Amino acid sequence: MFGACRLGWGRGYLARLCSAVGVLFLASAAAAERTAGSPGLPHAPNIFLPSSAPAELIRELAWLVLSITAGIFVVVTGLLVYCVVRFRHRPGDDGHEPPQVYGSNQVELAWTVVPLLIVVVLFLGTTRSIIAIESAAPPPDALRVTVIGYQWWWEFRYPELGIVTANELHVPVSARDDRRPTALKLQSGDVVHSFWVPRLAGKTDVIPNRDNHMWIEPFEPGTYVGQCAEFCGTQHAKMLLRVIVHPEGDFERWVAEQQRSPVVGDDPKVRAGRDAFQQTACINCHTVGDTVATGIFGPDLSHLMSRETLGAGVAANTPENLKAWVRDPQQLKPGCRMPAMQLDDDALDRVVAYLLTLR
Ligand code: CUA
Repeated sequence: MFGACRLGWGRGYLARLCSAVGVLFLASAAAAERTAGSPGLPHAPNIFLPSSAPAELIRELAWLVLSITAGIFVVVTGLLVYCVVRFRHRPGDDGHEPPQVYGSNQVELAWTVVPLLIVVVLFLGTTRSIIAIESAAPPPDALRVTVIGYQWWWEFRYPELGIVTANELHVPVSARDDRRPTALKLQSGDVVHSFWVPRLAGKTDVIPNRDNHMWIEPFEPGTYVGQCAEFCGTQHAKMLLRVIVHPEGDFERWVAEQQRSPVVGDDPKVRAGRDAFQQTACINCHTVGDTVATGIFGPDLSHLMSRETLGAGVAANTPENLKAWVRDPQQLKPGCRMPAMQLDDDALDRVVAYLLTLR
């Protein structure tokens, strides 16, 4: 009776586990299909849907490793289940041990040589992918961007274009016959971070006092999401990033917009906001082109409103969220380095009106 109950529980549990795994697998496959090319929405992170040369090599390797390990799993589990069922305890067993086998050369040779061969295949496959990705020097005319990780946001500097922006990396699309890869130099302003955009390339750690290098070469325009992949403090989970891949010709338009200085206009509220901004401690941390604000601890705000999100992906960059952010960043991102500036409501309105003009 007790045995039957246990068997019943076991069967139901196994069935539920199998169906849960199956549903998860199908759902992720379906989600991957759905988000593969929906315009306007960011592409979901998925290493099995690469859209960039290094990520394609990583997918090949991932499939090789997964198929070998899946084969091992099926063989081991199959033998285990077979033995459990075939040699289970039955009524009327005499209770004696089965014959024991020691020192079979064939068996020992088989379980030494086969795993060794498997490890060699995995080693060679991995080495080939690493060399293919790391030895591919970007062409001299590749776009060069310096990525700096901070607690908890990303700075992107384009030294050859004189552009500094944050949390959203803009690059041109690459065509198979007209390649435009982007070479990234990774630096850290404080602790160890890791730069990861799954559909574009593998992870690369961002380490203080060291330059690391990687490259991306996206083949499809759109927005690709990524995140810091190394625990770096309380807001590590909200150290998100986006890579915006521009269609052909569109990247130059973005560059021209970023190179323009912000225009204040004649609106008295905006002008008052600019004055208030320049008279608070905002300027110690932030830079805005053509103003006294030249701080470098926080993101460059010269083109703040050209960005989709605030606080490294914490919230959409809407006027309401911007106001809430300036009023008290700790509400949206507890522990972040930006303090509330204790502005009264009027000053807050004016400063936000000014920030909204930074396009
Ligand atoms: Cu930066 Cu985790």
